[in-house]
Amino acid sequence: MYDVYIYDLFIGLLICSRLEGKIVVITGGASGIGAEATRLFTEHGARVVITDVQDELGRKVAVSIGEDKVSYFHCDVRNETEVQNAVKFTVEKHGRIDVLFSNAGVPEPLVDIRDLDLEAFDRVMAVNVRGAAAFIKHVARAMVERKTRGSIVCTTSVASVIAGTVVPHGYTASKHALVGLIRSAAGDLGKHGIRVNGVAPFGVATPFVCETYKMEASEAEEVFSETANLKGIVLKARHVAEAALFLASDDSAYVSGHNLLVDGGFSVVKP
Ligand SMILES: NC(=O)c1ccc[n+]([C@@H]2O[C@H](COP(=O)([O-])OP(=O)(O)OC[C@H]3O[C@@H](n4cnc5c(N)ncnc54)[C@H](O)[C@@H]3O)[C@@H](O)[C@H]2O)c1
Repeated sequence: MYDVYIYDLFIGLLICSRLEGKIVVITGGASGIGAEATRLFTEHGARVVITDVQDELGRKVAVSIGEDKVSYFHCDVRNETEVQNAVKFTVEKHGRIDVLFSNAGVPEPLVDIRDLDLEAFDRVMAVNVRGAAAFIKHVARAMVERKTRGSIVCTTSVASVIAGTVVPHGYTASKHALVGLIRSAAGDLGKHGIRVNGVAPFGVATPFVCETYKMEASEAEEVFSETANLKGIVLKARHVAEAALFLASDDSAYVSGHNLLVDGGFSVVKP
C-alpha cells in the first residue's frame, strides 16, 4: 500500500514539474518578470541561463536560487556577438536549448507625438524588437541544428494590442512589432516543431515601471489597480511568469503564433 502511495506521490511531483530537465534561456532575467520566471521555472525542474546587462543583480538571482540550477551570463541583447556567445555558452554547458524566454525590455519617456525623441525611439526598438530578433535567430539555429522541438516565448505587453495616450509611442510601436515578429517566426519555425508565442502583461510594479514613473511599488500597484478591469487582485510578476510557464511547457503543445494577454480583460473592455 505504501509503495502505491509513494509511486503516486512521485508521479504527482513529476506531473507538477512542468519543465523537468528542460534547458531555458531567459533574457532580462536579473530583475522583475525575468527574475520571477527564473524562480518559477527552476521550481518546475528547469535549468536556466539568465542573461542581462545588470551583472551584479543577475549573479545575485543565480546565487539566491542555487548555481546548480541557474547560471548568469552577461549579454546586451543589442549586440549580436554577445547574443551568439550567450547561446554558445548555454549549448556548451547544457548540450541544447529547449526554451527561450525573450523578456528583456526597456521603457521610454511618455511624450506627445510632436515631441517624440527619435534617439529614445531607436533605443526602445533596439532592445525590444531587434534584441528579441537576434535571440530568436540564434536560439532557433541551435534548436534546428539539434532537432529540438523547442518553445520560444517573448514578453510583449498590453501595449502590443492597444494604443493611446498613457503608453509611449516608441514602446507601443516596439511591442506591436514584436507580435509581428512572433507570428512570422512561428511561420518559419513550425516546420521544425518549434513554437513561438508572446505573453502580454498589463502593468506590473517592477523596477521598469517604478524607475520610469518615479513611484514606489505600492503606489504603482495602486495606480494600476484603479485603472484595471479585473478588481480584487493585483497583477504580480508571478502571474506573468505563470502564463510564460504555460507557453514554455508542453501544456501548450499545440499553441503557436499566439499573444497571450495577461491583462484581466483590460484590452477588451477598455480599448
Ligand atoms: N512591468 C510592466 O508593467 C510591464 C508591462 C508589460 C510588459 N512588460 C515587459 O516585461 C519585460 C520585463 O520587464 P520588467 O517589467 O520585468 O522590468 P525590469 O526592468 O524589472 O526587467 C527588465 C530587464 O531587462 C534588462 N535589460 C534592459 N536592457 C537590456 C539589454 N540591452 N540587454 C539585456 N538585458 C536588458 C534589464 O537590465 C532588466 O533586468 C519587458 O520586455 C517589458 O517591456 C512590462
